[in-house]
Amino acid sequence: MAETLPIRETAQGSAHARHGSNIGQPVTRRDGELKVTGAARYAADHRPPGLAYAAMAVSTVARGRVAGLDVAAAKAHPGVIEVMTPANRPALAQDPDAKHHPFMFRMDLLQNDRVRYANQPIAVVIAETLEAATEGAALLAPRYEAEAPAATLADGEVFVPRAVGVGSPADLAVGDVEAGIAGAVHRVMATYDTPAQYHNAMEPHAIVAEWTGDGLSIDTPSQGLAMARGRIAGLFGLKPEAVAIRSPFLGGGFGSKGMLSGPQVLGILAARLVGRPVKLVLSRAQMYGPVGHRAPTRQTLRLGADGEGRLTAVHHHTRTASSRFDDFFEAASDVSHTVYASPAIRTSYDAVRLDTGTPLFMRAPGEAPGSIALESAIDEMAAACGMDPLAYRLLNYAETEPMSGKPFSSKALRACYEEGARRFGWEGRPLAPRTMRDEQGLLVGWGVGTATFPALMFEAQARAVIRRDGRGIVETGAHDMGQGAWTAFAQIAADSLGLDIDAVDFRAGHSDLPDAGIAGGSAHTATAGMAIHHAGAAVIARLAELAMGDERSPLFGAGNAGVVARGGRLLRRDDETRGETFSAILDRAGLAEVEGKGSSSDGGPAAGDYAKHAHGAVFAEVKVDPDLGQVRATRLVGAFAAGRIVNPHLVRSQYLGGMIWGVSFALHEKAVVDPRTGRVLNADLGEYHVPVNADVPSLEAILVAEEDPHVNALGIKGVGEIGVTGSAGAVANAVWHATGVRVRQFPIPIEALIV
Ligand code: MOS
Repeated sequence: MAETLPIRETAQGSAHARHGSNIGQPVTRRDGELKVTGAARYAADHRPPGLAYAAMAVSTVARGRVAGLDVAAAKAHPGVIEVMTPANRPALAQDPDAKHHPFMFRMDLLQNDRVRYANQPIAVVIAETLEAATEGAALLAPRYEAEAPAATLADGEVFVPRAVGVGSPADLAVGDVEAGIAGAVHRVMATYDTPAQYHNAMEPHAIVAEWTGDGLSIDTPSQGLAMARGRIAGLFGLKPEAVAIRSPFLGGGFGSKGMLSGPQVLGILAARLVGRPVKLVLSRAQMYGPVGHRAPTRQTLRLGADGEGRLTAVHHHTRTASSRFDDFFEAASDVSHTVYASPAIRTSYDAVRLDTGTPLFMRAPGEAPGSIALESAIDEMAAACGMDPLAYRLLNYAETEPMSGKPFSSKALRACYEEGARRFGWEGRPLAPRTMRDEQGLLVGWGVGTATFPALMFEAQARAVIRRDGRGIVETGAHDMGQGAWTAFAQIAADSLGLDIDAVDFRAGHSDLPDAGIAGGSAHTATAGMAIHHAGAAVIARLAELAMGDERSPLFGAGNAGVVARGGRLLRRDDETRGETFSAILDRAGLAEVEGKGSSSDGGPAAGDYAKHAHGAVFAEVKVDPDLGQVRATRLVGAFAAGRIVNPHLVRSQYLGGMIWGVSFALHEKAVVDPRTGRVLNADLGEYHVPVNADVPSLEAILVAEEDPHVNALGIKGVGEIGVTGSAGAVANAVWHATGVRVRQFPIPIEALIV
């Protein structure tokens, strides 16, 4: 049922774990061996008996209707079992266009012949083999009645959305921005364009679905198992308990697997139609449409500063796009609420509707595109004030959150600037651009960017058990997208139970387990981790009760002094020589095990009202060919402070991954949308540029110490997304410093650098 990893701790992992606290140790990934030997089974690796294979046919137009499909040709193809179209698609209990709350995204499940975006599923062919299904889908030869699509931010009618991001106001202000700009000595007004980006997780969306009587057995990658289960149950009129989803490993998610997607449901419908288990895996190209993307933005920054360079006003306006049929608005301006002190700040939005799949969360949604614009504009202001960009950021350092006026729960950003700058060797950077060259004559530039991401917490549950044999079991339906959740949670579980990590079986990745919330918003470790922490504490409290109330126990009457759990023993807090093993306590009580439950919200909200964010400073070096404009990021140093670090190995790799995405944002990544057809022209990993090894510079991530007494009892902030922020801006600013050319379009086109 539940997934438990067959763990063999590496020597390194265990050695660290045995001495004291597991949290904070660089424990080797528990699933590492499974991954590198290929033993880890991903959704599409499952082949239940009787499996049939489904292939989607997707629209080649972005707007219109499907006027005809050659279903007969596809059905006549050897091996094809059935062709699912709006004519025979099994009934759903819920309209896939119904919307009961803002984060229930509309799906295209063959409800009619409308085409709302390119790559929309328009039929599913089910066959005995993947080849037959794929060939059958090709034989459908759809005819369309096509209409002209709206494809870019320049198309369509502009409106102000009701809310952006996860419910932020579309217009928010403190102070008098216009007065601040009017009275400023220095002004910057600049517009920055960021492109649509598509999630390119190594593992495409996939599902193996099998109807078992009235229930469903599913293998599919999910960043939100309980939500996926609820949505499936709703769509098929089932009780949630009738749906079992296994998702032990994800080959990346980046937000695109946070919500159940239409193609996953099509796999379930196909299984129902043919009465067999069905596997449906998206092709690379099919990832560009029905499973979300990062929307393009056009951001206008208006900044004012006084004679000393202090900001007098910040206005951050974002124009973005959603689909024609649903709402998701990239909250790019909101980063300006947090980073730089200013007496007047305004963030505003408007949007257009495009014939595109609905945009969605993508790693550092909002902050990633928002921070590249803000960090560029701040750099422009530093230059206008004749100041070093790092000194400029320190001058405008926010001691309290500028927009809300709240104190920060913790903020070691100054230390990030200092440690990062020292390590990078920022001192001695010439102020003027285009003044450094390397021995080959390449232009060299150095840039800095501030990283920030909210420290969020959601709701999660966990269950913990200590057995008479002294082993612990901790269960929560958590998700490992590759970030190392299996390991970090096992560390938290071990500490909460007072056990060595190899004495803990950690179970996750299954919808039958307690709801671990969503692996998103960089909040998974804090959220599910706190549920684990409280579940463990509940077990230990139960054991302590048993021991302290039993006069045969050395802990009898420990009462007020209390006990601590360590190494499988309960010890008197005031005299650690007195104690006994968990096994002894359970033995005497005649119990096989004790159980405890925990929730992320146990213990209630922390006292006080704080602005909670992780912070960082990223320093970048680029080299630019003065003749060709070719840019190479050569060196990045990021220093990040994110509260307590559960596992420095894993956290470092999250930061590095984020920084690589920052390089990608600044220099490589862009969906090229054909304005005539609304199709993505580079819908594959060959033409959609993400950094390859040769593009990744020397990278260093510094883990800056930070204690946060307010975010949660463990002091954990998120680390998954912050690395993207700051890094992109640092690279862009380094390009300016190398060339003297300020490019406000991302990724920076090399032709803009040939002067
Ligand atoms: Mo992340 S975009 O919250 O998976």
